[in-house]
Amino acid sequence: MTRTVLFHELGGPEVLRLEDAPVGEPGPGEVRIRVDAIGLNRAEVLFRSGHYIEPVRRFPARLGSEAAGVVEAVGEGVTGLRPGQAVSTVQTFSQNDYGVYAERAIVPAAAVLHRPEGVGPVEGAAVWMPYVTAYGALVEVGGMRPGDTVVLNAASSSVGLAAIRVADRIGAVPIAVTRTAAKREALLKEGAAEVVVGESEDVVERVLAATGGRGAEFVFDAVAGPGVTDLARIVAGDGTILVYGALSGEPTPYPMIGLGMPPVNMRTYTMLETTTRPERLRRAAAFVASGLRSGAFRPVVDRTFELDEIVEAHRYLESNAQIGKIVVTVAH
Ligand SMILES: NC(=O)c1ccc[n+]([C@@H]2O[C@H](COP(=O)([O-])OP(=O)(O)OC[C@H]3O[C@@H](n4cnc5c(N)ncnc54)[C@H](OP(=O)(O)O)[C@@H]3O)[C@@H](O)[C@H]2O)c1
Repeated sequence: MTRTVLFHELGGPEVLRLEDAPVGEPGPGEVRIRVDAIGLNRAEVLFRSGHYIEPVRRFPARLGSEAAGVVEAVGEGVTGLRPGQAVSTVQTFSQNDYGVYAERAIVPAAAVLHRPEGVGPVEGAAVWMPYVTAYGALVEVGGMRPGDTVVLNAASSSVGLAAIRVADRIGAVPIAVTRTAAKREALLKEGAAEVVVGESEDVVERVLAATGGRGAEFVFDAVAGPGVTDLARIVAGDGTILVYGALSGEPTPYPMIGLGMPPVNMRTYTMLETTTRPERLRRAAAFVASGLRSGAFRPVVDRTFELDEIVEAHRYLESNAQIGKIVVTVAH
């Protein structure tokens, strides 16, 4: 048995319970890890509350895909991983099948990445989701090049912060958009070329001015909803809006249709497009590891909680007060 976060019904953070659950041995293609730290993601809030891209199929349900720990056991047919190795996990799987909010967890071997030397458990649970999401969208899918401009909506999110550094490493120009002035200085410190405060500044005007009227080659948007109509006005002629989140919770219009605007490319993106394709994941892991080695990339950890504080940790995630990742540590 191992202490595991389970929920027996959909709802707010209070439905999460820390209970003993069987963990067993890994099956073919699976690995059991001792979980030392867990990276929290919006996807878990959405899954817990019944608003994720897939519904909860059975109760009690597990949660979580991003963790760091040590391999304890490997199943049949698993190569390249052995007990004792320091690893991290990335999302390649459904939370209906696996969940890492636990002291020990079984995950598919395809979801396990070696943790580079010098990257501890907390950092190892905070780095992959943001950087692989940003790299996959901007570089693998978008083909971002030096000199391109990328506008990052909800730039203070963990993915937005990673996207600032990914853009910078490529030689592109990251413009950060945040709702209030509270996170402005932090975004400049993280490397944003400019910060636009959405509530008090005109995003369209600012981005067009910053790009000499050309517009941005990429808009990387975690918010979606009606705001994409404005974002469409700041995209360069052959640019693209990459929508990777739905923080607004509202339906998203397709901006070029029926609004008397020129055509705009808009595309959704999920990190599964990178993590479930072995070649893309190999390149992503190499890119992130290289950035970590050089010091160009770093995980931004806002705050840590302990496993028995999981309800408070989810409440804090939903408060939007954080800058970067919330990590839950697991004592053994
Ligand atoms: N497609 C993928 O594969 C993928 C992967 C990871 C995450 N995501 C998605 O990306 C989004 C961000 O995730 P995260 O974990 O990085 O977030 P996070 O670290 O929790 O950050 C969220 C930030 O976004 C801003 N925000 C929140 N609600 C907003 C709203 N309604 N309108 C505008 N801005 C809002 C807030 O910053 P300000 O107050 O400064 O504006 C908030 O601090 C989520 O929607 C998540 O589901 C997608």
